[in-house]
This record gives sequence, C-alpha cells and structure tokens, in this order.
Amino acid sequence: MKITKICCIGAGYVGGPTMAVIAQKCPHIQVTVVDLNEQRIKDWNDPNTENIPIYEPGLSEIVAEARGRNLFFSTEVEKAIDEAQVIFISVNTPTKTYGKGKGMAADLKYIELCARQIAKVAKQNKIVVEKSTLPVRTAEAIKSILDNTGNGVQFQILSNPEFLAEGTAVTDLLNPDRILIGGDATPEGEAAINALVDVYANWVDKDKILTTNVWSSELSKLTANAFLAQRISSINAMSELCEKTGADVNEVAKAIGMDSRIGSKFLKASVGFGGSCFQKDILNLVYIAKSYGLNEVADYWEQVIIMNDHQKRRFSNKIVQTLYNTVAGKKITFLGWAFKKDTNDTRESAAIYVADDLINEQAEVSVYDPKVSRTKMLSDLDYLETRTSEENNSSLAIFNNAYEACKGAHAVAVLTEWDEFTTYDWQKIYDSMHKPAFLFDGRNILNAKELEGIGFIYKGIGS
Ligand code: UDX
Ligand code: ADP
Repeated sequence: MKITKICCIGAGYVGGPTMAVIAQKCPHIQVTVVDLNEQRIKDWNDPNTENIPIYEPGLSEIVAEARGRNLFFSTEVEKAIDEAQVIFISVNTPTKTYGKGKGMAADLKYIELCARQIAKVAKQNKIVVEKSTLPVRTAEAIKSILDNTGNGVQFQILSNPEFLAEGTAVTDLLNPDRILIGGDATPEGEAAINALVDVYANWVDKDKILTTNVWSSELSKLTANAFLAQRISSINAMSELCEKTGADVNEVAKAIGMDSRIGSKFLKASVGFGGSCFQKDILNLVYIAKSYGLNEVADYWEQVIIMNDHQKRRFSNKIVQTLYNTVAGKKITFLGWAFKKDTNDTRESAAIYVADDLINEQAEVSVYDPKVSRTKMLSDLDYLETRTSEENNSSLAIFNNAYEACKGAHAVAVLTEWDEFTTYDWQKIYDSMHKPAFLFDGRNILNAKELEGIGFIYKGIGS
C-alpha cells in the first residue's frame, strides 16, 4: 500500500512537530493535522510562522516550508479522517482526575472519542496509528470500538510511539535514535507496518526502524520514560547525600558517566523533573502493575515519583531555611518557569510547585521566563487549587525583563536552564538586590566561584 494522505488528530506538542517533519520529508504525502481547538488551529495557520502555538527551535522554518504545500492545519476532523489512508491519534492522555484510578491511571476518554469518530466516518480501510503514549493493551480497546461501531471496513491498529523530547523536537524527529512500529503478525498487519515503515524510510535508515508486536511497542514507550526518569531521581537522591557529605554531585555524575555501561546522559541533578510525560507515564505504569497484582513492581517505580516530589520540596525548604527561616514579605525571583529550556511548555514544571510552597510561606514571588506567558503561569498555579485566582494573581509578579525581575530581591532562584541566564551581567543583578544576596541554582548552570567572588551566597544542587 502506498500512502498519499495522512491525517493526525491532535495538533499538540507531539502531533504538530511530528507531522510538520513528515510533511517536510515526504512532499508526495498530503498531511492534515486536525484539532477540536479552533484557536490552536488558527495559531498553526498564523501567516507569520513565528507565531505558531508551539515554540521549538527550527520548527517555524519547517512549517513555513511545508504549510500550504502538503501540510495543512484544520478543524474539519471528519473530512480529514475520511480522506486519509493513515490516521495518527495524537491527543492528550492526562492522568485521571476522577473515579477508578484517579491520580494514577491514564484518562483514555479522548482516545475513545477519536476511535468512535474514526469508526463513524471511515468508508474505506484505514490504518490507525497510536502516537500518544498509552497504557499497554490500549490498541485492543481501540480495535474493539472500531470493529464494533464501524461501517464494516477493515482497520489495522499500529503503535508508533514518539520519543522526541521537547526543546529538541525537530532534531530528534530528523535524526531519531530509532523508530518503533508495533503491529499484528498477520498479512494485513504486516502490510500496514510496511506502509508506515516506507513513510519513515524517506529520511530514516531502515536499520533504525524497529518492528515489534503491538504490546511490546506500547510497553517500550512507558519503559523508556520510566528508565529516563529513574536516572534523574537516582542522581537527585545522590545530590542530597552529596550535600551532607561534602561530595559534589557534578563530579560524581561525571565519574560514573564515564563508565560506558552507565553513560553520561540524563545524570544532571536538578530541582526535579517536569514535563507532560515522566510523572504521568510512571503513575500509569504503577497503576498497570497494581492492576495485575504486581505490588513490588508498582512500589519500585512509584519511588521514582516520591523522590522527585521530595526534590522539589527540598528546594523550596532550602530557600526558606537559608533565608533565616522566613520568606514572609521577601521578594524571591525565579529565573525560568518552563519545565526545561527551549520550550514554552510548563506542564508539571518544578517551578509551579516551588512557587506554590513559597507563596504558602507568604513570599512575594517574581518570575521571568523568556517564553512562558503570564496567563500560562497563573493558570498553572490556579490548577493546583491551593488558593483563589485573585490570591495567585496578587502573589505572583511577572516580568518581561530579568534585571527588572531581580531588582530588590532577597534571593534569585534558577528554575529552568535557559542558556541566556549564563550570559547575564551578574554584578549588575547583585548590585540591585538586598544583601546578603542569595542565589539558588536549581539547575547547576551558573559559575559558583565567579558568583561567590561577586558576593552572592550561592547554593547549587548537590554540593
Ligand atoms: C521525555 C523523554 O525524554 C522523551 O523521549 C519522551 O518522548 C517524552 O518525555 P521531555 O519530557 O520532553 O521528554 O524532556 P526531557 O528532556 O526528557 O526532560 C524531562 C525533565 O527532566 C525536564 O524537566 C528536565 O529538565 C529534567 N532533566 C532531564 C533533569 O532534571 N536532568 C537530566 O539529566 C535530564
Ligand atoms: P501532547 O503533548 O500529547 O501532544 P497536547 O495536549 O499538546 O498533548 O495536544 C493534544 C491535542 O489534542 C489538543 O490540542 C486537543 O485539543 C486535541 N484533541 C483532543 N481530543 C481531540 C479530538 N477528539 N479531536 C481532535 N482533537 C482533539
């Protein structure tokens, strides 16, 4: 089967960049990304591609090249489903906030709605691809809905998880470590797998395209995220021990990372991991393990989350303790709100939780982030439901300029590792702050010696 038309349901952080790259690399395939959110589609269609709703280095250039040629953003979900041979499902699968599995299991209501919509519209055979990260065996549920509510057409379900990381989405998509495609071991399943392999083979070496059964593919994605998050919690656990023993976590990370069996990546101690995936996927893994009665497996992975929550809380506690056990009425400036650099995404960002703790201690929190909007920061805090929107609004001061944000502060805290923070005139910032001037580097990106030379009391993570 030759693929000429692709539809992607969900124009979010995964669907948008992934489809933009497929369209760029496959000019012979028409790619239509659809979403129920009209504003989001309007933003993707903004004549100035600098204004597309997702900030990723290199993405606006790709959208500028492909949009209108073979890349389209639309709210006409049914039309796009009808026309496409392949439909990617790339909608959100948040942690459930109600009912059974609340706070743990993935909420699959958006996935089910997509399946029902595809079943209703499809008049020809379709390949349905799970792009969103899903609990293992979700494909079974999708297949059951499609087969039982469809118009008698044949559906092949493939699992094709996305491993891109935000902030490096474009380079990850252009040069992936691997592409994983899971499908049925039937002649129809294999034909569907091959059709999707051919799409990726337009720019990815065939030996990097792995094909597996559906369940292995679904579980591999959860496993990859769990292992990555586990490394961060492991090094963060060591960071606390380093602080007690006089060891330096950066030196420890370097020493162990040179062991080729361990490797040097994902060993950066921090204020705690954030992002839309790690916590959600581990909770989901824990839930699945518990549902099979595998309590030891569940407890093992849950500890990764417990450690991460501890690391965030430890950071806010350290600020309070260092500032003579009170931050009431003191201005504490955050540099960074995004969950990592080079993205405007803030989901589960450590900054939100640290701000919430400090506001509880009656601090006046000020924030500067080069990419995150004021509305986003306030809605992140509101989402925690710790206090009213009005109270959040009056407790958080948001600045467009880092120097202004730091003026008159008792302490500055680095929450995101934006490169620009390392290029600041720190003498100027020091001069404008209350003394003693405290600097809490939640990302270990600044030069401690230089800052101490200026006069800052510098506190990094794990040293
Ligand atoms: C992650 C996975 O990397 C990606 O493969 C998957 O598709 C989605 O989830 P993402 O959440 O976008 O990607 O970013 P990632 O680079 O993994 O960072 C996650 C969090 O961990 C960030 O808050 C980051 O700052 C933090 N982190 C990462 C550390 O604290 N230390 C590290 O060494 C690495
Ligand atoms: P991710 O990080 O997984 O890409 P996002 O929340 O950024 O998640 O994006 C998911 C997108 O999917 C949202 O823009 C949402 O409006 C869209 N969406 C959810 N359900 C549907 C649906 N049934 N039809 C079309 N779009 C949907």
